Amino acid sequence: MDMNERLQELSRRAKASIEAAMDPDKLNEARVAFLGKKGELTAILKGMKDVAPEDRPAVGQMVNETREQIEQMLDESRKAFEETIRAEQLKAEVIDVTLPAKKNLVGHRHPNSIALEEVERIFIGMGYEVVEGPEVEYADYNFTKLNIPEDHPARDEQDTFFINDSILLRSQTSPVQARKMEEGKLPIRMIAPGRVFRSDEVDATHSPSFHQIEGLVIDRNITFADLKGTLEEFARELFGPETKTKFRPHHFPFTEPSAEVDVSCFKCGGKGCRFCKGSGWIEILGCGTVHPNVLSMCGIDPEQYTGFAFGVGLERIALLKYEIDDMRLLYENDVRFLKQF
Ligand code: DAH
Repeated sequence: MDMNERLQELSRRAKASIEAAMDPDKLNEARVAFLGKKGELTAILKGMKDVAPEDRPAVGQMVNETREQIEQMLDESRKAFEETIRAEQLKAEVIDVTLPAKKNLVGHRHPNSIALEEVERIFIGMGYEVVEGPEVEYADYNFTKLNIPEDHPARDEQDTFFINDSILLRSQTSPVQARKMEEGKLPIRMIAPGRVFRSDEVDATHSPSFHQIEGLVIDRNITFADLKGTLEEFARELFGPETKTKFRPHHFPFTEPSAEVDVSCFKCGGKGCRFCKGSGWIEILGCGTVHPNVLSMCGIDPEQYTGFAFGVGLERIALLKYEIDDMRLLYENDVRFLKQF
């Protein structure tokens, strides 16, 4: 058999092996068998030394042509395999866009959070900053510095969760006032939202843990008129532009004079309804001008500076705004309830 025939025969066998290969592994085996280091074509090349020198160029060319043929066949076959694999992959990954989507179960914002953001928006709009204080507080800040002396009934164990004689769960957000004043940076315009604790039984209007928003403004020449104007504006923004406010004299140890503020019932406009228990008014907060004792105890000269303060119950605002008649609903976190707001 001359060289030409040998090469043609080899090429035919290579073709048959390549066509018979059912997967890329078998194809690779065919490549190794014919073109590999120990492959048949390589063996022929190694035998070139036995070919007469004058025949070598022609034989060399034939070997190269055969190599190219086999390489081309291998290449085509490899491409065909790749295409089939890709087609199968695409088929397997097909997405049926007509299938109903999976429902994404996200929670819902709590009415307290919605109400708080609304109150923060209003006061930030008036140039206030939002400040936070600790929930576990010194009796000193919760009471003493706020002009609530040792024997004051507000300190009663019945109302307060004491941890020891001098530390307690804060019963109001007012201690944040004292902390802010002690920092000594004036003027102050702040609100302090947060959780407070009182030893109360749970019912429709009470909970041992609830939230307040404290407000404090300290500057030169602040008067009760500033307090009135601010809270009137706050009430109008929160409950609507028609809302009227009424300041009733009251007593708080940390303010003098002090008042409780009622807003005209936004349900009946003040005529009297079930919502306002027939009175036409709804109580929303306590306030007053900061007591000079509080200023001095917190390092501010009451001869130079005056201020006002107020305290709002966050739950009270949320219950009013969304006409919820049982506070317990706010703590149960039933999504069916929360979803309504
Ligand atoms: N801390 C008071 C309370 O818990 C609410 C309050 C009333 C805060 C009057 C004030 C204020 O800052 O001036 O009942």
